[in-house]
Amino acid sequence: MAVRPATPDAIMEAGRLLRSGHLVAFPTETVYGLGADATNGLAVAGIFEAKGRPRFNPLIVHVTDLAAAELIGEFGDIARRLASAFWPGPLTLVVGKRATAPISDLATAGLDTIAIRVPSHPVAKALIQAASCPIAAPSANRSGHVSATHAQHVAADLGDRVDMILDGGPAREGVESTILDVSGPVPRLLRPGAVTAEAIAGVLGDWPAPIEIAVSPEKPIAPGQLESHYAPRAQVRLEARDVRPGEALLAFGADLPAHSGPTMNLSPSGDLREAAANLFAALRSLDAAGVVAIAVMPIPGTGLGDAINDRLRRAAAPR
Ligand code: TXA
Ligand code: MG
Repeated sequence: MAVRPATPDAIMEAGRLLRSGHLVAFPTETVYGLGADATNGLAVAGIFEAKGRPRFNPLIVHVTDLAAAELIGEFGDIARRLASAFWPGPLTLVVGKRATAPISDLATAGLDTIAIRVPSHPVAKALIQAASCPIAAPSANRSGHVSATHAQHVAADLGDRVDMILDGGPAREGVESTILDVSGPVPRLLRPGAVTAEAIAGVLGDWPAPIEIAVSPEKPIAPGQLESHYAPRAQVRLEARDVRPGEALLAFGADLPAHSGPTMNLSPSGDLREAAANLFAALRSLDAAGVVAIAVMPIPGTGLGDAINDRLRRAAAPR
């Protein structure tokens, strides 16, 4: 994998790589991000594969400005006011996902909300322009490792799991963006970060209400614990080798049990990356079809299979 100084040429090439489904690590003002085209499910699956994440967290989608953000998210008064005050910059806003947004369900982990941020780093800005697509990007580190603030750290951690690393020097802030959920009536701080709660409160005043601090340095919560998750309404039965009456089939591979009812195949060729890309959309479409129970064929526990099985186990857990 190539670490490339972030020259205009390298940025153009990185934009082409992103548009063709490849992964590019790039500097932002907070930490380095591991980017993929947010509209391309296979590319987004590649992020989870490269990070070795044992589960699918929803990702932050990076865009150039508020106008681009409004194409994928529903912005109310509070969201607009905060975007005007802090964008470009290290504030991530969680808003309702627009029904017409061409964002992969895997990027949002099947949620109805989407986390959006407009980075201020000149290389990040130029890269999103060059790619001309929204970029899904978690921090550019292996799962469980610390976030990378230098191109060389990204190279040491992710190696050739990434197609290009744009070197734009050290990330200035070194701490991730602040995440504020403005999808409900009261803004909720989900992750403290480079923009302080005081600065946010200063912009909002007490309108419509003081922000709710869901997490703070004094009330630490393990990463990931906060996330809400898409869960299908249907009952889910795992490791199914047959299909019982009334069940729909969530299949994997070519060798399906006998069944004539609703079927979604995560990957007829048995490809885990394709299965990951299709997972949330498949669950949603079975739900939309009104099925009451889903039989899920066994899925190998290697590579992305870990994260797929984690999601399915939680979908199957009694609620
Ligand atoms: O500074 C940053 O934000 C860096 C740079 C690369 O932009 N990115 C970053 O991404 O820290 P990541 O994936 O390490 O953290 C994203 C966080 C996760 O904790 C995830 O749960 C949360 O954002 N998140 C994403 N979408 C969400 C949603 N719809 N609702 C609630 N939380 C969400
Ligand atoms: Mg991270």
